[in-house]
Amino acid sequence: MPQDPAPPLLRDTSPARPAAPAAAPGGPSGAGAFDWLDAAGAARRDAGLVRTLRPRPADSPLLDLAGNDYLGLARHPEVTRGAADAAHHWGAGATGSRLVTGSTELHARLEAELAEFCGFEAALVLSSGYAANLAAVTALTAPGALIVSDAGNHASLIDGCRLSRARTEVAPHADPEAVRAALTGHDGRALVVTDAVFSVDGDAAPLPALAEVCRTRGAGLLIDDAHGLGVLGEGGRGAPWAAGLAGDGDVVTTVTLSKSLGSQGGVVLGPARVVEHLVNTARSFIFDTGLAPAAAGGALAALRLLRREPRRATRAVAVAQGLYERLTAAGLTAVRPDAAVISVRAPSPEAALRWAADCRTAGLAVGCFRPPSVPDGISRLRLTARADLTDDQLDAAVRTIVATAPGD
Ligand SMILES: Cc1ncc(COP(=O)(O)O)c(C=O)c1O
Repeated sequence: MPQDPAPPLLRDTSPARPAAPAAAPGGPSGAGAFDWLDAAGAARRDAGLVRTLRPRPADSPLLDLAGNDYLGLARHPEVTRGAADAAHHWGAGATGSRLVTGSTELHARLEAELAEFCGFEAALVLSSGYAANLAAVTALTAPGALIVSDAGNHASLIDGCRLSRARTEVAPHADPEAVRAALTGHDGRALVVTDAVFSVDGDAAPLPALAEVCRTRGAGLLIDDAHGLGVLGEGGRGAPWAAGLAGDGDVVTTVTLSKSLGSQGGVVLGPARVVEHLVNTARSFIFDTGLAPAAAGGALAALRLLRREPRRATRAVAVAQGLYERLTAAGLTAVRPDAAVISVRAPSPEAALRWAADCRTAGLAVGCFRPPSVPDGISRLRLTARADLTDDQLDAAVRTIVATAPGD
């Protein structure tokens, strides 16, 4: 993804918020404390940046190229049965934080099987991938440490950097030499953080080169494999496995259970001493209720299914590459996918919005990314491949996207 070399500040890609009024508007004047929200809402509307929730029915007629259910497992009967059985057996909620009553034998089984599958010594399950990234970044750094963070990283890694109070240098996207330069001269604890597959454009990080830089500079490497697990590596074992980094003592990985595994939750994978440290220090682990048993049971069923059917992983990548080839052959500009995410460029934010709406009208759900949610100012459609899409569905999707494409 084209990036300007970011200043040594973390980018904030969330929508701009108006400055707080100098004096509190509430109180004796009679104005409400939240009256300023009306101006904030009006500013969003004027800028065309209003986001709204669109609850979907269970039997949506739309063909879904917008979700992250890469392997088509979220509604697989084995996975939903795994979730339902777990809820019946363990209860609807975990009943407490992991360190009190929220660790069931089911959580322990999921951790053991995930660690073994992905090739790491140990795993720790949290309530989301977001919480896993906060936990990993904050627990592995401290004020005075240096974090080198790729400019295209996910918001959860960025927020982890902010919470850590470490010094954070944002490195230009996918640039190991820039990471080397950022680490040079730093004496002390250092952590390089990167998405394995970038969530907006679907391109992969240069993991072997980053690992080599980390090795020579004595830095740890934290890889967010949210979009690689289930898709990359032998049988979907993930990007660190594919790069020969699984089980490396200086590498820690985070994954979400909400994409390829069709469930919910997050996991940190790494050396046992890292997991032990997280259990004792990571606030987003300690002060959070344990993952609901249904989510753990669904994820475990999905993991076992993936082990039995490893071809789902290769099919998801093949579907993504097929979509890319056909869309670019039709004259559209897209980023060559390294996993299951395909990013198709739109000429403007307005055109991207209209394009996505026209696809929806024609029966196809696609993602629409535009500023300020993207750091580089480029608007695009974000498509996701699924292993369970049929050739007829793919034909229909390509026809719709091409037929509704904006002119130059
Ligand atoms: C790269 C990346 N990291 C982390 C997350 C957060 O995972 P979760 O949705 O489980 O909180 C996401 C997705 O939402 C993601 O795309």
